Amino acid sequence: MARLEILTYPNPRLAEKSLPVEAVDDALRRTIDDMIETMYEEDGVGLAAPQVGILKRVIVLDCSPREDEDGNPLPKNPLAVVNPVIVTRSEEKIVWEEGCLSVPDYNDEVERNARCTVEGLGRDGEKISIEAEGLLSVCFQHEIDHLDGVLFVDRLSRLKQQMVKKRLKKRAAEEEAV
Ligand code: NI
Repeated sequence: MARLEILTYPNPRLAEKSLPVEAVDDALRRTIDDMIETMYEEDGVGLAAPQVGILKRVIVLDCSPREDEDGNPLPKNPLAVVNPVIVTRSEEKIVWEEGCLSVPDYNDEVERNARCTVEGLGRDGEKISIEAEGLLSVCFQHEIDHLDGVLFVDRLSRLKQQMVKKRLKKRAAEEEAV
């Protein structure tokens, strides 16, 4: 397995729409495993393929607690969904403070559907259907947004978007200059 490089805003790949996966094969499983390793290394709860420059409809997530009350590591619970589709959404909304590995050092509150049902294929190409609520529901909506070229900051007010995007562009320019 290998740790993959995470693209950050304003990388243009993050704004592109990803393509459906045609076959769940060994090559795709390697990508999924690399994405899962990268997600854990970066301390993320989810990662979408376009964030590592792969424009395919694949997401991985693990919203389970990482440590028990005494700080001991808990078993990992990674989930991969290929070609994920949100088939139902609750009318009830939930507000969560979100962050994103592609939007470094910025968190903000976003309103999402409190519950949703996601269908797609698992790591072995099997059909899966998951009913999600709370953080898992938020995480699915956030990661599937990535597959459509949408970042959580795109869901903030115009004023906030301008502020955050300006700051991120400046940061990217500074990193390039080093
Ligand atoms: Ni993200």
